Amino acid sequence: MRLSITKRAEAKSGALVTGVTADRNLPKAAADLDKRSKGALQRAMAASRFKGNKGEILEVLAPAGLPNSRVVLVGMGDPAKLRDVDLQSLGGALLGHLNRVGESDATVLVNAAGPDEKGAGPAERAAHYAYGALLASYRFDRYRTKEPKAKKPSLKRLAIMLDEPAEAKRHFGDLKKVAEGVFTTRDLVSEPANVINPKSFVAEAKKLEALGVKVKALGPAQMKRLGMGALLGVAQGSVNEGQLLVMEWKGSESKKRPLAFVGKGVTFDTGGISIKPAGGMEDMKWDMGGAGVVVGLMQALAGRKARANVIGICGMVENMPSGTAQRPGDIVTSMSGQTIEVLNTDAEGRLVLADALWYVQETYKPRMIVDLATLTGAIIISLGHEHAGLFSNDDELSQRLTAAGEAVEERLWRMPLSDAYDKLIDSDGADMKNIGNRTAGSITAAQFLQRFIKKGTPWAHLDIAGVTWSKKDAPTVPKGGTGFGVRLLDKLVADHYEAD
Ligand code: BES
Ligand code: MN
Ligand code: ZN
Repeated sequence: MRLSITKRAEAKSGALVTGVTADRNLPKAAADLDKRSKGALQRAMAASRFKGNKGEILEVLAPAGLPNSRVVLVGMGDPAKLRDVDLQSLGGALLGHLNRVGESDATVLVNAAGPDEKGAGPAERAAHYAYGALLASYRFDRYRTKEPKAKKPSLKRLAIMLDEPAEAKRHFGDLKKVAEGVFTTRDLVSEPANVINPKSFVAEAKKLEALGVKVKALGPAQMKRLGMGALLGVAQGSVNEGQLLVMEWKGSESKKRPLAFVGKGVTFDTGGISIKPAGGMEDMKWDMGGAGVVVGLMQALAGRKARANVIGICGMVENMPSGTAQRPGDIVTSMSGQTIEVLNTDAEGRLVLADALWYVQETYKPRMIVDLATLTGAIIISLGHEHAGLFSNDDELSQRLTAAGEAVEERLWRMPLSDAYDKLIDSDGADMKNIGNRTAGSITAAQFLQRFIKKGTPWAHLDIAGVTWSKKDAPTVPKGGTGFGVRLLDKLVADHYEAD
């Protein structure tokens, strides 16, 4: 699909799209079309349930008096109440509609600002509308060689028109970079594990060098020298060697310590010797979702030249059962020096993160750390697919993350941490064990991670197991890999860490 923001001009074919506000009120562009079609839009509204509420869509096919295939009315509700995400959802919903009805060419008419209009102006409205349509246009169809044309998305061209497009185009430029980051994450998460393994994942991340990101990876020998026994213990069962991916984006001259984002990158999680049941195991190709977000985020930040210094670290392994795999009961020594009794080889994400977290603190002394991981099935039991779990030692960071999540509709729900939960992972045989009892599984996993955070470092852990993959379409998030976390963390950085 070709997406453009251009100066208002007459569209002599294809669909015309325009907004209608609450109570069937027609803003100028809609009123003009109604006149030209001799009242067809008013009559169509009267014959339907369409009220102009936010997200409603009414289509008038081949209206007499207009050369166009159709007019699509998009309900906007109260325009003063439309947030950026609402406009994105409208753009996404419109794209879905046009593809469903088989339209190939559409023009959106954006109204000029009303005299005493509140909320975002036409430039911002147009940019977020376009961004929503772009996010919705994502498909992972690389391996579908026989899909009939009639089932493919029909829309080839979407033009968003307004009187003065320059500012909208500028604004959209940055949003497009974020969308590109989201698409990279969705691609990485969707690729199967015979394509994405620790090394090929690193090769994908290397592409960010073109944007000015420094990218390197530590292999097993270097990790062994650093004492990363926790990560290496998970990796040892696979013929695909483990990697520690390190990305640096320097977008600011500030002398402040960098921000750090750390991702769990298990390119396939069989469970290891504590093997998972067969049913649904294919889902574990996206157990590198946290790492996928970190790469997509680095791409978004570098793409829009964010004025911040940011480190991205991904612990990459494949968790396999084999003759060289780690056994239940093995005791490993992490880079921090703390020892871990591995009672369940399927609780592997925390082992990988333990060394990745310690490495980033030793190497970069970050001013804050956010890690992302598809860490526990238990978080899906707690929060379903509506919120990711947020665990943190810092109220300010928590509030910032929660607010960013609300703004982009990637929602977080804070869960508790405490000494009582921490006790559940004490071990008789080592400093800690990698599982608790059956209770509070997501919290004991977070307690485990916290044992690898140095005192005084603000840290947040996002358990994204329930939100990384979606089984149903949403306006700006087609089913499949969601990219949840890229928009959220880009917003966090933009709102709080780019001023200095
Ligand atoms: N990758 C899984 C968690 C997961 C489950 C992610 C479902 C996405 C969907 C993780 O490595 C895991 O296996 N966790 C275990 C921990 C248990 C052994 C303490 C779990 O959640 O069952
Ligand atoms: Mn596991
Ligand atoms: Zn896992």
